[in-house]
Amino acid sequence: MLPLVIKQITFDQILPIWAQYLWPERRSIIEPVSAIDIDSNIDMGIFNFADNAHYFAAFNNDQIIGVISGHLTKPNQCRLRGLFVMPEYRGQSVSRRLIETELNHATELGCTQIWALIRTKNIGLFAKYEFKEHMLTNKYEFGPHYIVQRKIPQT
Ligand SMILES: CC(C)(COP(=O)(O)OP(=O)(O)OC[C@H]1O[C@@H](n2cnc3c(N)ncnc32)[C@H](O)[C@@H]1OP(=O)(O)O)[C@@H](O)C(=O)NCCC(=O)NCCS
Repeated sequence: MLPLVIKQITFDQILPIWAQYLWPERRSIIEPVSAIDIDSNIDMGIFNFADNAHYFAAFNNDQIIGVISGHLTKPNQCRLRGLFVMPEYRGQSVSRRLIETELNHATELGCTQIWALIRTKNIGLFAKYEFKEHMLTNKYEFGPHYIVQRKIPQT
């Protein structure tokens, strides 16, 4: 198994990875949090939750090999955003470690629901973590995406 370490990073550290690798064709500015809500509408109120935005990276030695982030979109509701694993490190459970880290963090923030806006081909990946389809959207520049969501049990 890859000897990776997951650490919290800053928006300035995740931004170049998102811009260069995850969203290279993107024309709109990449903000620290996204204003899209779980129903695929724009909700500027989400920017009020910017303080809760968090960013994680998987490191192999000192190299970032994968990233994920999350932020609140309502009280007790978290969005998982910006999952990416470097191509040469795929298929080695890096995304599993990142998704589990984000689920734990959302739980610590008191969230009872988590959702994500995902590429349609990744519906099977998110189903492994009990995310269920909420809707299909084609409203934005990135084309058809699913919105998936799951509950988070609070103990
Ligand atoms: C999607 C991505 C993050 C997967 O990363 P990864 O580290 O290779 O995934 P893992 O090795 O942790 O795989 C976790 C599990 O999901 C499965 N899986 C991976 N991608 C899958 C997919 N697209 N559909 C179904 N299952 C998938 C794996 O087989 C593995 O299953 P297992 O635990 O039963 O063996 C990576 O391919 C990537 O960065 N792709 C480009 C960007 C992208 O699509 N990001 C997500 C935006 S929604």
